[in-house]
Order: sequence, then structure tokens, then C-alpha cells
Amino acid sequence: MIETRTSDVIEANGVLVDQRVRYPSYKSMDEFIDVGRLRSLDNYIRNKIKRRILETNDPKFYTGPYTLREDKAGRPGSRMIYLAESKEPDSYFDLDRTELWQRSNAANDFTLLMDFIETLPFKATGRMLIMYDDVPRAVPAHRDHTETEVLHDFIWFRTNRNKPFYMLNPQTGEKKLVEGYSAWFDTVNQFHGSDEIDKLAFSVRVDGIFTDEFKARIPIPATNRASTPSYWASFDE
Ligand SMILES: [Fe+2]
Repeated sequence: MIETRTSDVIEANGVLVDQRVRYPSYKSMDEFIDVGRLRSLDNYIRNKIKRRILETNDPKFYTGPYTLREDKAGRPGSRMIYLAESKEPDSYFDLDRTELWQRSNAANDFTLLMDFIETLPFKATGRMLIMYDDVPRAVPAHRDHTETEVLHDFIWFRTNRNKPFYMLNPQTGEKKLVEGYSAWFDTVNQFHGSDEIDKLAFSVRVDGIFTDEFKARIPIPATNRASTPSYWASFDE
């Protein structure tokens, strides 16, 4: 039997990560979700968003302070639709405090999407968010926070592959575009963002707590819990 040592750690970007981990990287969730059903929602969600653009003033996405270029931090212009709302003021570290979150009025506008979300491997959901932009505009490369031992269970997904959504290694500048319809990714040790396209761009992110059955599939690195999606992805290569 060949024993593999997976607990060795190396320093990447000034923090310790398992030696298997490479950036940029992400774990595709396509094999765990119903991609056909997801794709079938494309026109449905697009039309709902188009109506909201005319009728609603959805809040603008905030990159947070951890952008690759300091001058790019802020609200680049893309909009958010909260499908769930927290009882407390917005805090990134509440994303998976599922008891705080309840379905919003906007969720009633997206019932087929909500039905799809029910099929995802979560035992409870927290923040649920559609991000969209109807003008050609990039989302600057950013990290969501800097806590390397904080891991959020979430699935990012989309009904079409139009939006050039990427992971980026800040040391090398290497970008990796998400190829499929879904991803779970390290939001801390690498950057992510999207390039502009000249049509309506949208994607959905659902945070929560994965089911025990799903969690049992996930290899956990000995250090840097935030790197778990990239650690898991390393087993696919
Ligand atoms: Fe982000």
C-alpha cells in the first residue's frame, strides 16, 4: 500500500496551506447538483431580473475591502437580490448562521429557483443571493475576508456559462475561469472576480450548512480550513 502524506504544509501567499493545494482553483459542484434542471431556469430567471430592473432598485454589490487593487474596492455597480434576509445587520460572518435567515419577499418572485435550491445538499440555508449586472462591467478581483480558519459551506451556480467568472492567484497573476455551472471555492487565500460581458450577467450564491452525507465526502486539510475547496479540488487532478 502506498501511503500518501497529505499533511505537509507549505507557505503560499504568506499563509500555511497543505502542499496539495494550488491556486487558482475551485471545486466544481456539477456532479452533485441537477445541472439540467438548473439550465432549464435560464430564461425564467433572466426574465424575472429584467422585470426587476424596470421596477425595483436592487442594492449594489459591495466587494468588501479586500480587493486586489485598493482603488477598486467599493460598489462596482452590479446588483444583488436577497432571496433570504437576516434578522441582524449584514455581517459576512453570519452567512451560515442559518437561524438568522428567512426567505425574503423577493424569493416569492423566484419560486422555481427556490424549488431548485431545495434540491441542493444543504440541511439548512443562510444567505441566498442573486448577483446580476445588465451593463458590461467587471467585478474587481477580491477576497471575501482574511480569516484562514473560517470555512463557509456554499454553492455558487449559474444557468448559463456567459459570465467570465474567475479565480486568481495574486502571487502569479494566473487566472482560472470557472468552466461549468457551479463551484465551491476558497474565498480567502485567492481572489475571485468577473470580467465584463455585453449581455445580462447573473449568478446565484447559496450559503448554509451542507448535509452530513455531503460533508462526509469532503476531505479536510490539516491546516487552513478556508482552503478546503481547493484542497478537495486537488484530488481531481
Ligand atoms: Fe466575493
